[in-house]
Amino acid sequence: MSPPQGKVRSLVVCLLKWYRENARDLPWRRTHDPYAIWASEIMLQQTQVKTVIPFWERWLRELPTIEAAAKAPSAQIHKLWEGLGYYTRVRNLQKAAQFIVEKHDGTFPEKFDDVLALPGIGRYTAGAICSIAFNQPTPLLDGNVIRVLTRVFGIAENPKEKITNARLWQLAEELVLAATSHLGSTESRLTKDWNCSHLNQSLMELGALICTPRSPQCLICPAKKLCVAFKENRTEELPNLGKREAATARTFVAFVVERDGKYLVRQRPAGIVNAHLWEFPNVETTDHKTKTAMVAEELFGSTPINLSPLCTVKHSITRYRITLAAFVVELKTFPKSVNGVWNTPAQLQQLAFTSAHRKVLRAVNAQLDA
Ligand code: ADE
Repeated sequence: MSPPQGKVRSLVVCLLKWYRENARDLPWRRTHDPYAIWASEIMLQQTQVKTVIPFWERWLRELPTIEAAAKAPSAQIHKLWEGLGYYTRVRNLQKAAQFIVEKHDGTFPEKFDDVLALPGIGRYTAGAICSIAFNQPTPLLDGNVIRVLTRVFGIAENPKEKITNARLWQLAEELVLAATSHLGSTESRLTKDWNCSHLNQSLMELGALICTPRSPQCLICPAKKLCVAFKENRTEELPNLGKREAATARTFVAFVVERDGKYLVRQRPAGIVNAHLWEFPNVETTDHKTKTAMVAEELFGSTPINLSPLCTVKHSITRYRITLAAFVVELKTFPKSVNGVWNTPAQLQQLAFTSAHRKVLRAVNAQLDA
């Protein structure tokens, strides 16, 4: 069920005009370097633009080429990513950089299928890179674009359902294809036009700035005359994302153990969430208020002589609401073989910590400074 071509074309015209006048000046929009655009797209998955900017700038400063990214030590790439979360992204970015060095002579591939074959790159990211860096008419669909399209076209079915998802991809493709034949302005006829890039980015930009999940700014929306949800007052019901799974609460206790000015920390193993990042020794518990001493004793094989609460950190990852209660613990004897390493505060500063444990480290440093 295709929408009328007239509507597709009108939407493309008004989105391109709006984007020309309203696009944010983001640092990765000042380049056509596919490596820089690729890095921005990976960082922007699950992370907001304003958070990404300083990470992206630092990444490109320290690792300005695909070759540099391919060769960087694991500790360096994790440190550069520290705080962005979802660290599989950075390991895949490096694997893909190594693949490009080996198989494509270090030059980012231009063919969509070659891009899609890279580790960590799915249909969305391949579409984004090929359209933004090479101006190819490759569609993309992310949460923002889904919101814009379901509202403008009045799609009431759940976008996660296969058939509706396919319909949305089809629509995204029709839009970006229509952009290839749009000669909207004098300058686009005279200069190389970037209409595929701009059309795809305009959809994402509209979703980020105007067509927001709550309280969209329909009155200033360039697509309001075409928008079914606006005309029928249905922006609140679209997109229809079904019921959200309830978040599960989980509690962890972490221990700060000091010995001769050094602190015990450990690196998370491969294959689990936050793999390769550092943390203070900790365990999941059902009750951190009464059982902490017992937990410490089990973890260290030594009786705590003193336990004092340091801080409580709350954060959410995926569908978990996590509470991390950190304690400073003094042990009767130091365990002979412990899982972890002893580091000075200056050494700790150099490691990539999980977000929650970096907050614990901040509390440790604050106590040392006090
Ligand atoms: N989200 C991911 N990539 C983006 C882009 N290029 N513009 C706006 N939002 C984005």
